[in-house]
Amino acid sequence: MSASKSSNTVSRSGRFSEGPALAVQSFSQSVTFDRRLWKHDIIGSMAHARMLQSIGVLSETECDAIVRGLEEIGEDIQQDRFEWSQELEDVHMNIESALTRRVPAGAKLHTARSRNDQVALDMRMWMRDEILDLMGDLRGLQNSLVRLGDRNRTVLIPGYTHLQRAQPVYLAHHLLAYVEMLERDWLRFRDAFDRVNVCPLGSGALAGSTLKLDREMVARELGFVDLDDQPRVTRNSMDAVSDRDYMVEFCSAAALCAIHLSRLSEDLILWSSAEFGFIRIADAYTTGSSLMPQKKNPDMAELTRGKSGRVVGNLMAMLTLLKGLPMTYNRDMQEDKEPLFDTADTLGSSLRIMAGMIDHTSMEVARCQQAASDPALLATDLADWLVEEGIAFREAHHLVGAVVGLAESKRCQLNELKVSDLKQIDRRFNRRALEVFDIKRAMERRCMTGSPGVREVAKQLKHWKKQLKGK
Ligand code: ARG
Repeated sequence: MSASKSSNTVSRSGRFSEGPALAVQSFSQSVTFDRRLWKHDIIGSMAHARMLQSIGVLSETECDAIVRGLEEIGEDIQQDRFEWSQELEDVHMNIESALTRRVPAGAKLHTARSRNDQVALDMRMWMRDEILDLMGDLRGLQNSLVRLGDRNRTVLIPGYTHLQRAQPVYLAHHLLAYVEMLERDWLRFRDAFDRVNVCPLGSGALAGSTLKLDREMVARELGFVDLDDQPRVTRNSMDAVSDRDYMVEFCSAAALCAIHLSRLSEDLILWSSAEFGFIRIADAYTTGSSLMPQKKNPDMAELTRGKSGRVVGNLMAMLTLLKGLPMTYNRDMQEDKEPLFDTADTLGSSLRIMAGMIDHTSMEVARCQQAASDPALLATDLADWLVEEGIAFREAHHLVGAVVGLAESKRCQLNELKVSDLKQIDRRFNRRALEVFDIKRAMERRCMTGSPGVREVAKQLKHWKKQLKGK
């Protein structure tokens, strides 16, 4: 064997007379990143072994030896004693070859199994765990948002459109908007879980096996069951080894969630600026400047906003990877792992850091109240008042526009105008018109479902606290 060649003894034995060039080995290996699948690979192999015993391919002694061997390998990996070898390409070959070195019967483990259905199995099992973790992280962030809103349930802020002050809302209402988005993200992940949770083992390389495997037994053992505890196995071997839809769905749900986090980040970044001054983020969640001693920067929110780009990019990478692949498995598919792993890691850490940051954020109540008390935010309320007086909304809109113009020319606030000023614009204005500028009453009037009124927001906070309790 020359210096630039390696010997790959498992997948190349028999057919090949020499090992791959070293450059080929390092180009094609995936063990440096897919070793994180080790636990699922081992659990999947144990279930496969037990099934092989049940159909008579392995004796009980052989099966026990294999299971014990796999347990020991798991222990070694956990203790960082396992020697990973790039020559053995991937996590599957590394574990199988370590097993065969310990247990002669290990050579029977790969009966009626291909790495193609094995990797599909490992990925599905890994994803189930990741999805459940992310769903928990989503609940964590929802809880943090609800708590911040609840702690500040009387705080009003301006709601914005076009980043211009529009109408007053309770801070809690603004925060609960994100809770709603995150709820839909949670539901999308739950929905994705359903399609991940189907067992592909038994599909072989692409065309199943001539041996009569008990696929249902494996599915049951590995928790691939429906709500009635019935095993869920894939129905088409070719689809099962080449399907990556569930990964795309996951990346898509994750990308949308990351976009929600990015928008939340943007709000927090704006709110923490001197210009807004609505919030104060605790020192533990901010960073300083290497040059400017006075700076306190909202880097965690900025990084979350930035990392959303990676998550969106990973979705594109995944779609592009699959485009144009003929049936069935193609080695291109090994490239599914890094974007997927990165997506789960990035989204999980973003969700957790955001929750921590929100738990360490306090409101600058005076600044919020000051901004929300701008009577111009209630100009629409004045138009609504005219509507209640029987005036068509388009005309009311026009009249209030004239009122705003008048206040501007007088350099005063809307609520500083006199009834006589209003009457000058339209004689149907009267004293009661100016009462719309009472912000407390204005917030009481917003009482429909979905509105930012005082009772409605209290109702929504109650709903979410109950819904998220203990989660
Ligand atoms: N490491 C490979 C992957 O992730 C496992 C499947 C290999 N299959 C094959 N036919 N080369 O895709």
